[in-house]
Amino acid sequence: MKTISLEEVAKHTSKKDVWVIIHGKVYDLTAFLPEHPGGQKIIMKYAGRDATKAFDPIHPPDIIDRFLSPEVCLGEVDAASLASAPKVETEQEKQLRIAHENKPRLDEMYNAFDFESVAKNVLPPDAWAYYSSGSDDEVTMRENHNAFHRIWLRPRVMVDVAKIDMSTSMLGTKTAIPLYITATALGKLGHPDGEKVLTRAAAKRDVIQMIPTLASCSFDEIVATRANNQTQWLQLYVNSDRTVTQKFVEHAEKSGIKGLFITADAPQLGRREKDMRQKYSQEAPDEMDNDDSFQRDEGAARAISAFIDPSLNWKDVAWFKSITKMPIIIKGIQTAEDAVLAWKYGCAGVVLSNHGGRQLDFAPSAVEILPEVIDALKREGCDPKKDFDVYIDGGIRRGSDIFKAVALGAKGVGIGRPFLFAMSGYGDKGVERLIQLYQDELEMCMRLMGAKTIEDITPDMVDIRNLKDHFVANPTDYLAKHAYEKMQPRGNLSKL
Ligand SMILES: Cc1cc2nc3c(=O)[nH]c(=O)nc-3n(C[C@H](O)[C@H](O)[C@H](O)COP(=O)(O)O)c2cc1C
Repeated sequence: MKTISLEEVAKHTSKKDVWVIIHGKVYDLTAFLPEHPGGQKIIMKYAGRDATKAFDPIHPPDIIDRFLSPEVCLGEVDAASLASAPKVETEQEKQLRIAHENKPRLDEMYNAFDFESVAKNVLPPDAWAYYSSGSDDEVTMRENHNAFHRIWLRPRVMVDVAKIDMSTSMLGTKTAIPLYITATALGKLGHPDGEKVLTRAAAKRDVIQMIPTLASCSFDEIVATRANNQTQWLQLYVNSDRTVTQKFVEHAEKSGIKGLFITADAPQLGRREKDMRQKYSQEAPDEMDNDDSFQRDEGAARAISAFIDPSLNWKDVAWFKSITKMPIIIKGIQTAEDAVLAWKYGCAGVVLSNHGGRQLDFAPSAVEILPEVIDALKREGCDPKKDFDVYIDGGIRRGSDIFKAVALGAKGVGIGRPFLFAMSGYGDKGVERLIQLYQDELEMCMRLMGAKTIEDITPDMVDIRNLKDHFVANPTDYLAKHAYEKMQPRGNLSKL
């Protein structure tokens, strides 16, 4: 392969002639520029230089070989010139380094919120924006956790709670605690090892990991990281090209995946404005400013999700059942009616979820609809304890949240952001500690509630009379408020 010096690469920085370096190889991306699903701006930002750090988190490792013709690879960057290039720490890198150096010790982290506040400091702004954002006004995102505050507990005493056993089984797998690490895309935004961190920590703590379709690591890498007997599930975004989906599902089944979770709540990606704004703030050459293609440059989320098939519907379940023996679970159910349909179409279960408040703002929290889902299933003759698994996710931040979900009939709960935040601040050890903290909190909650085992956690242990009461704190509309105040006649104001 031809060797090319850094100086040579640095000469190719215009839209009509753009080269970038990725993993030591030099690519001519001029022809690909208008087709890049993430927009042109981000490529131009790295024109003539090394784009590896920005490339890695949001692209599967084999994507270049799959989508670009071999001729675009011009050669390898000269190792000597790479080694001698001055390593300049940008102001942002410096701030993040200092934040990492000054973060609390791991044993000073006591709950999921602690990890979130550390992550906010140690994550680069684009990663924080992608992980933390919800859609629109983020009302649903906040409601997800707030809903748990409207469920109160009815503790039973004088029960022998010397020994607590919180182990359970989910889709036939014995697991240490009724929680699983749910699918969250782009793990490498938070940690160079991406989803593999979650795999390793899940193995250590005996919990299940759901692998996302849009992982930063390749599916095979994540599967290869699996320990003996570790259970992994797959979250599936269905591709408009069903042959791609079929191949992926068959490959997953052969690779030992134990459950197929089809995401149904994202026929179009929600507007996550934090994430979108972050992309708009990327520096790019002035010549790009009037470029219409910027319209497509709408944040990490949109860049990676263009392939998702909006025509996915209930009839497709039969097709999935014809191509795989894995249990099929629909992720993103938001009403009792749809939970019942999933049961009728022969799915093995559902995840009540609003995608962590990242899709439809004002969709209900999963825990709010859980009681009506369980009732509706029972009315149809389905026993959600035996025949059909109901999981929930969204806003689960405390062991008592898990307790409440189980009391209301959930087989288990999925947890997303907290694990990303723990991974971003502290890697494997952070994720392991967070699982331990959830275990400690759930153990205490079970003991104080008089429930020795998961089976002992029953609906009469929770008071849900206020669950349906929504008190939504609206974000202040400064513009409207300002205009309204201006309209006040001065005289009246002084009399108030
Ligand atoms: C950064 C991020 C990425 C996500 N990516 C996916 C995804 O690729 N597929 C999917 O089905 N759900 C995805 N989700 C939704 C999660 O699976 C889950 O529904 C949600 O995170 C649960 O809420 P929580 O973060 O409050 O625990 C993502 C959530 C976050 C926060």
